[in-house]
Amino acid sequence: MNQIKVNLDTTTHTHYKIHIGRDIVDRIGVILNKGDWINRHIIITDSQVKTLHGKRVLDTLRKMDLKVDLIDFPAGEPSKNIQTSLQLVDSLIALGADRHSALIALGGGVVGDMTGFIASIFMRGLPFFQIPTTLMAQVDSSIGGKTGIDLPVGKNLLGTFYQPQAVFIDLTFLQTLTDLEFNNGLPEILKYGIIEDSELLRTLEDKTEAIRARDFSLMERIISKSCRIKKRIVEMDEKESGLRRILNFGHTIGHAVEAESGYSLSHGQAVAIGMVCAAFLSEKLNYLSSKDRERIESLVKAFGLPYRIPKGLGTKALLARMTKDKKKEGTVLPFVLLKKIGLPFINGGVPEKKIQETIEALKA
Ligand SMILES: NC(=O)c1ccc[n+]([C@@H]2O[C@H](COP(=O)([O-])OP(=O)(O)OC[C@H]3O[C@@H](n4cnc5c(N)ncnc54)[C@H](O)[C@@H]3O)[C@@H](O)[C@H]2O)c1
Ligand SMILES: [Zn+2]
Repeated sequence: MNQIKVNLDTTTHTHYKIHIGRDIVDRIGVILNKGDWINRHIIITDSQVKTLHGKRVLDTLRKMDLKVDLIDFPAGEPSKNIQTSLQLVDSLIALGADRHSALIALGGGVVGDMTGFIASIFMRGLPFFQIPTTLMAQVDSSIGGKTGIDLPVGKNLLGTFYQPQAVFIDLTFLQTLTDLEFNNGLPEILKYGIIEDSELLRTLEDKTEAIRARDFSLMERIISKSCRIKKRIVEMDEKESGLRRILNFGHTIGHAVEAESGYSLSHGQAVAIGMVCAAFLSEKLNYLSSKDRERIESLVKAFGLPYRIPKGLGTKALLARMTKDKKKEGTVLPFVLLKKIGLPFINGGVPEKKIQETIEALKA
């Protein structure tokens, strides 16, 4: 089992641990039992995770003599909204939750974001724990303390920064993920390798097949590496005032492609395309060597991820999503670019024209 300590300079709790391993769930009870100001736990999960894993987690925790309940909501991003949040709050009140209760987010990023959000505001804040069950949540959304829900006009518009008491990453959850969901988490791992860690990048290149086959010990190493990278960046910039923005590598064009595809492309697929675009743009602006750009594209290809913008997506529409409809000529955009692999930087003023040319060049 791996343990990573996250140190944050906040007033409430200054650090928490990320526990990573196989069958961690069996050990959660012991750790939860230590929080003596907490006298009960309420698991929040979604309908699918409840069916697949709810009983096992509930039984395991109850066996440790913990008072635990479980509530759920329909799986999927459309649930990550204020109505569902209020329904969950009603259920918490009906269960008699109070300031000595703790919430446990059991699920992917949707469950984690919404549970964290509720935990941060219910009765002015309850402690909460994360048990991320998707690869995306295990390497990205469960770390860093961003919570949030969507509004009809946009994603993640209501939210808080609120850190969990602990994160428990159990690799056995990966077994029940569909290929689509597993692959959805991979691009964020590729991103960490590209922006931060040449050793991780080499592992990704050398062990592509074993990773795609979800080899447990390899995944344990890779997930824990990913968590360490995100944790280090978050520790330096908890509230995303600067450095943390490098985590958006591949996300500027990625987000536009994801939305413009009507979400038929997953976030991960869109970020894979976005990273190839960001590398292309970095080379075009004479920062990145063509060798490094090709290496990034090959990596994305090797994982069977998309690396071209679907032809059907309009360049103008994509640009409009990025510029938020600033119609002026000569618009410039902030962009996370690379000077070389392992050296990202934020360029505050990439001309829209260059982005347009990149999009055109990478359509297929
Ligand atoms: N807070 C952050 O920093 C941050 C970072 C990245 C993404 N996010 C958010 O995360 C969300 C996406 O997360 P996600 O990709 O995990 O989506 P998700 O939570 O919707 O999970 C995807 C699907 O997988 C199912 N699932 C979960 N665990 C499973 C398991 N072990 N076996 C089988 N099926 C399982 C879920 O029921 C769901 O249907 C978005 O809302 C995004 O905004 C937040
Ligand atoms: Zn992402």
